[in-house]
Amino acid sequence: MKNIYKNSPKNLSKAKRILKKNNVIAVPTETVYGLAGNSYSDSAVKKIYKLKKRPKKNPLIIHYYSIKNLEKDAYLNDEFLKLYKKFSPGALTYILQKKKSSKISSLANGNLKSIAVRFPSNKVIKGLLKNLNFPLAIPSANVSASVSPTKATDVIDEFGKRINFVLDGGRSNIGLESTVINLCGKTKILRPGAISPNEIKKVLKKKILISKKPKKINSPGLSNRHYSPGIPIRLNCKKSGYKDAFIVFGKKYRNKKHFFNLSKKGNLNEAGKNLYKTLRKIKNLKYKKICIVKIPNKNMGIAINDRLRRASK
Ligand code: TXA
Ligand code: MG
Repeated sequence: MKNIYKNSPKNLSKAKRILKKNNVIAVPTETVYGLAGNSYSDSAVKKIYKLKKRPKKNPLIIHYYSIKNLEKDAYLNDEFLKLYKKFSPGALTYILQKKKSSKISSLANGNLKSIAVRFPSNKVIKGLLKNLNFPLAIPSANVSASVSPTKATDVIDEFGKRINFVLDGGRSNIGLESTVINLCGKTKILRPGAISPNEIKKVLKKKILISKKPKKINSPGLSNRHYSPGIPIRLNCKKSGYKDAFIVFGKKYRNKKHFFNLSKKGNLNEAGKNLYKTLRKIKNLKYKKICIVKIPNKNMGIAINDRLRRASK
């Protein structure tokens, strides 16, 4: 497909050239696809906000190849080092205190004293980051408030011709955005994701709070309507209305018209991987309404329910 580029040395060089000119491309990660730009460049960061129609106050996550490159930009504390050892590269985003000497554009972190950082594990984005001499600001590649893309063609579905370079990394393995944890002040989860509070608790050996409402920091992942397919969603349904899309979970549901099973095996990781794909599919099939059964609220289910709650607002 036009504008979608397979992972090859030639295409990685092309991606690098575009990024060096402070232009924006779409990239794969193991969580969701993102829009990537040079985090040192005000102009690249501005282009990201404009494309996403994202409020300027909502800061971006800075993506690094390794911890070495991070030392210039943030103070690394004990809790960070423990979590990094266990979960990075991977689907955990850390909020750390930004260094004054950091070259990260203050537009990328909404002029805050902190920055969000992540080390993605997807091979394609790692290959790209390794060959750049600047970290990348990468928010999810959706127009603000809508469903995040989990494959290359979803990005085109979101942006059409406004994005002319999508690096293809196949389908995102996890399918939901990373867990965001604040390590700058009170330790707490700002956005649930693939790494569960329980797993974090085991490493830090203390109870981990999940923040309900953001106070000062305006997280889009925490704002009112988000992750929305643009049609009403009803949660905790036992059955669906005539002609509604019915999202189900587990083996007790047989294949039926209008039924979309997130995981026939009843596996929450599989359901997480299928959630955005299913919402996008239902939207494109022009359904008017979605009903969804109750999803168990543990492990990946916590992240799924978080996204569904916001999508249903
Ligand atoms: O999995 C992911 O994290 C994906 C992939 C592409 O890496 N990225 C992603 O980025 O989800 P985005 O921009 O859609 O979400 C970033 C989240 C938002 O909720 C934002 O408010 C929060 O991180 N965030 C960023 N910087 C922050 C900061 N300094 N303090 C608190 N929250 C911050
Ligand atoms: Mg997002």
